[in-house]
Amino acid sequence: MPLRFVHVSDIHLLDLQGVRPWHYLNKRITGRVNLALKRRRGHDEQIFDRAVEHGLALGAERLVVTGDLSNLSLPSEFAHVRRRLASIGLPVTVIPGNHDAYTKGVVRDNLFDLHFREFMDGERVDGDFPFVQRFDEVALIGVSTAVTSLPLYATGTVGRDQLERLDAVLARLGEQHVVRVVLIHHPPVAGVAKARHDLRDLDAFGEVIARRGAELILHGHEHRNLDTILPGPGGAVPVHGIASGTSRSQRPGHEAAFSLYQVDRHRIHRELYTWNGTSFARAHV
Ligand SMILES: [Fe+2]
Repeated sequence: MPLRFVHVSDIHLLDLQGVRPWHYLNKRITGRVNLALKRRRGHDEQIFDRAVEHGLALGAERLVVTGDLSNLSLPSEFAHVRRRLASIGLPVTVIPGNHDAYTKGVVRDNLFDLHFREFMDGERVDGDFPFVQRFDEVALIGVSTAVTSLPLYATGTVGRDQLERLDAVLARLGEQHVVRVVLIHHPPVAGVAKARHDLRDLDAFGEVIARRGAELILHGHEHRNLDTILPGPGGAVPVHGIASGTSRSQRPGHEAAFSLYQVDRHRIHRELYTWNGTSFARAHV
């Protein structure tokens, strides 16, 4: 049976209810300024609702969100996003992005995991990332790049330990001829991310893919639709980035978008849908 799912990313759902000024100490000062100036105007939660509705109408069986569910990692935001995702009428898979690890306290207290564990269930080694969700002959492999970065930076890191676990997972699933779909927030291809927004250990990630392979890699973070590749042992591995699922932008390639994937052992079929200001429409890939 194929796995049919919708891929969205960087939905940045906002909820400032109950927030007090002292929550904005440290990095959140710059984050809030950025939020006030850009995100409030730039994103619309209702566009996400329309993407989900459209995906459901197209027969999607799952929603995959590749990070940046929140803006400031506030508990109120996480609770808000969790409620929304739990009510959409589809099973959900999520991974965290840099906005979901906004301060050291959020990471120390494991807040993302506490709120979204039910959407990241599956096999784990030592209880840590990556997690593996198996659907017959297809597996979603959720990688975390979410680390707290300096103000005005939005970098990510997979980390040596996680890369070792990922290497073993990809090798094992590859031997079993499982279709491996890797989910990662930051683009893992050199030269794609803006300065100070990059994946710090993308070379090491690329070495794992070159050695073990994968059938598809999905990411977000850049708020634009991207098609790149990474070398794999059996040829090029497609790497697809999707724009923000709530963006109001009408700049070509930066409009809100979602992809519908149908994946089985024989093929990976993708349809891209972009927001034209009033509705989602199929776009040429
Ligand atoms: Fe991001």
